[in-house]
Amino acid sequence: MTDSYAVIGNPIAQSKSPMIHAAFAELTGQDLVYDKMEGPINGFEAAVDAFRAAGGKGLNITAPFKLKAAAYATHVSERVKLSGAANAMKFDDEQILAENFDGIGLVRDVTHNLNFPLKGKRVLMLGAGGAARGALLPFLAEQPAELVLANRTLQRAMDLASIGAQQGRVRSSSYAELAGQTFDVVFNATSASLRGELPPVPVTVFSKCTLAYELAYGKGLTPFLRLAANSGVRQLADGVGMLTEQAAEAFFWWRGVRPDTARMIAQLTVPLA
Ligand code: ATR
Repeated sequence: MTDSYAVIGNPIAQSKSPMIHAAFAELTGQDLVYDKMEGPINGFEAAVDAFRAAGGKGLNITAPFKLKAAAYATHVSERVKLSGAANAMKFDDEQILAENFDGIGLVRDVTHNLNFPLKGKRVLMLGAGGAARGALLPFLAEQPAELVLANRTLQRAMDLASIGAQQGRVRSSSYAELAGQTFDVVFNATSASLRGELPPVPVTVFSKCTLAYELAYGKGLTPFLRLAANSGVRQLADGVGMLTEQAAEAFFWWRGVRPDTARMIAQLTVPLA
């Protein structure tokens, strides 16, 4: 029987996941269907119950349900436990397993696709919301020299830094305190770019920076990437590789086969102009 998967979110029309997973299934010869589901804002659990009852094997979870998915699961990975958020679930009889592949996908894109090892690097991440939470532990696992978390609301960055404190060198910072500090790589994990806004990052953070990475995908040259380019940063990237790699991780988790991602990344890439 053909196995059934889906992505659930609200809104969901914009999701690229069905297209990516259909391509992965074709590439690897896996017999599956992958749909998109708009979950009612106050009806996430009932929608997932119904999907499971109909024999569904797994779900990806996108905004605003990542925290609810973590709470819904019977078994959560260490990453989900620490971040409180899940972006994938697997249904195995009565077990509901939850994982979060966003951060792993990001790290794989940076270290493998962009060939930029994070070990020993000074890393700055802007933002302390869901996207930053997902990236925290996978970043620290790469053993950067230091990971600095800057956020408008400082308390959120402090809370996140304390979650990672056991796993590596991480500290919080206000934007103003970043002035005069330098980094090898800067990640924008805020949602500012979705509204064409620029986080208040001092340009001096880019003076020794060789990679600026926008986690948002498909927005072209965002204000953050434009600032980095104007400050002399040579390599710019957006989240297209992260999106594709997190999908590949989920696919591997569900199906036990790892699809090649290069063609999909090329197909989804929107020029940074
Ligand atoms: P997501 O799941 O996309 O990370 P979120 O959890 O709502 O969304 O978090 C949004 C992040 O973007 C937060 O870190 C937010 O900063 P605050 O915690 O101070 O609100 C950050 N953010 C959004 N717009 C921003 C802007 N214009 N400048 C700086 N940071 C911004």
